[in-house]
Amino acid sequence: MRLSRYFLPVMKETPSEAQIVSHRLMLRAGMIKQSSAGIYSWLPMGFKVLKKIETIVHDEQMRAGHIPMLMPTLQPADLWKESGRYDDYGKEMLRISDRHGRDMLYGPTNEEMVTDIFRSHVNSYKDLPLTLYHIQWKFRDEVRPRFGVMRGREFYMKDGYNFDLSKEDALHAYNRHLVSYLRSYERMGLQAIPMRADGGPIGGDYTHEFLVLAETGESEVFYDSDVTDLSFGDREIDYDSVEQCQGVLEEFTTKYARTDETHDEAAFNAIPEERRRSARGIEVGQIFYFGTKYSEALGAKVQGPDGKPTPVHMGSHGIGVSRLLGAIIEASHDDKGIIWPEGVTPFHCGIVNLKQGDEQADGACDQLYAALTAAGLEPLYDDRKERAGGKFATMDLIGLPWRITVGPRGLKNGVVELTSRRSGESVELSPEEAVKKIIEIYAPHMTSRGF
Ligand SMILES: Nc1ncnc2c1ncn2[C@@H]1O[C@H](COP(=O)(O)OP(=O)(O)OP(=O)(O)O)[C@@H](O)[C@H]1O
Ligand SMILES: [Mg+2]
Repeated sequence: MRLSRYFLPVMKETPSEAQIVSHRLMLRAGMIKQSSAGIYSWLPMGFKVLKKIETIVHDEQMRAGHIPMLMPTLQPADLWKESGRYDDYGKEMLRISDRHGRDMLYGPTNEEMVTDIFRSHVNSYKDLPLTLYHIQWKFRDEVRPRFGVMRGREFYMKDGYNFDLSKEDALHAYNRHLVSYLRSYERMGLQAIPMRADGGPIGGDYTHEFLVLAETGESEVFYDSDVTDLSFGDREIDYDSVEQCQGVLEEFTTKYARTDETHDEAAFNAIPEERRRSARGIEVGQIFYFGTKYSEALGAKVQGPDGKPTPVHMGSHGIGVSRLLGAIIEASHDDKGIIWPEGVTPFHCGIVNLKQGDEQADGACDQLYAALTAAGLEPLYDDRKERAGGKFATMDLIGLPWRITVGPRGLKNGVVELTSRRSGESVELSPEEAVKKIIEIYAPHMTSRGF
């Protein structure tokens, strides 16, 4: 993409309505525009990052054997009346009636709808295990939408639902979700710590929230500092192996890490004092096993091996796809702007032409652009007739992790400059070497299979 042809409405001034840095930077970098409280348009660059995050989530869900689909945003109220949640959900649910006076709602989540699909088509235990998921817009009429996409009213969420014959099988599904979530967040350059959370009215130990530590987080969390040393890394995992998945769960959830709702002073104080931490965190996902709550309410039964109808064991598992943009920026920025991790960056590399209109500089930039594009990468070429300072400021603000700077002086010596946004360090390289370096850097991130 050439910047002169793109739509990147960056702002010089700091928008006064934004209270936290991620919201400010998303507005300043021209990624989103508020349309009404908690509802946003995703401008081209915001949309690009949203899709990058979505692609990673899809990729890791499919790797875990979970099956993508798409359910509608508008749901009939009848299903929710069947489960008993239509009245319970309260004012957070946006209720709509159609021209025939039928009660509808904009889905805040999909347990009822997916259970209805399941009960319509699955009758035998032989069709289990099954995990269906989708990534779809949700609406929750939050009392206090704030912090930009972090707490929106309309937001984009991955929600997955497992259907299993027994509690044991459902817990394996729970563990698969835990592993696939760890992998997803790491690919986005984030550390998200699984913490024991509150099961709400259903209770039980089987729910974890994934939290990104950040001062601006809305959740209060308590943990053993050892948990921040854990990482999944690039190890192999067999998602069919109950032992392997259970092993990862134990590795990541044995040490103390809880949100304030389940915090236990006595257990916390048993940790050596120097490892006790209390902090704030952003919830970027949650996994939940809830047994037969919805399958019993909605009559989702399968014929078991003994021939008897039995309600399926279920769980639901969510990732806040749109909230993740805010969380990533909270975790990765400096006073000049965003610093995108390679896994989610909107463009792989910026090209800054210091002397637009200079035949040699323009030619070198065109060649770099063509070589990167031919390698399957997306450069953003700042080809505007602007001062170098302005071009650098824009690149720093939008946070592309790598920048190639091209000017007549360097070209005289056959070099361009490759700069890391994160460290600020620059090296002089031939244009060919710079392209080779960028290709190497992104090789581990070019693994999504699509679907
Ligand atoms: N209003 C929102 N705006 C953006 N993302 C959200 C919002 N509500 C929930 N999410 C994201 O969707 C994920 C799954 O939804 P879940 O039902 O667990 O949310 P929740 O526990 O109600 O969230 P919260 O406690 O932050 O209100 C959350 O972990 C979060 O990342
Ligand atoms: Mg939650």
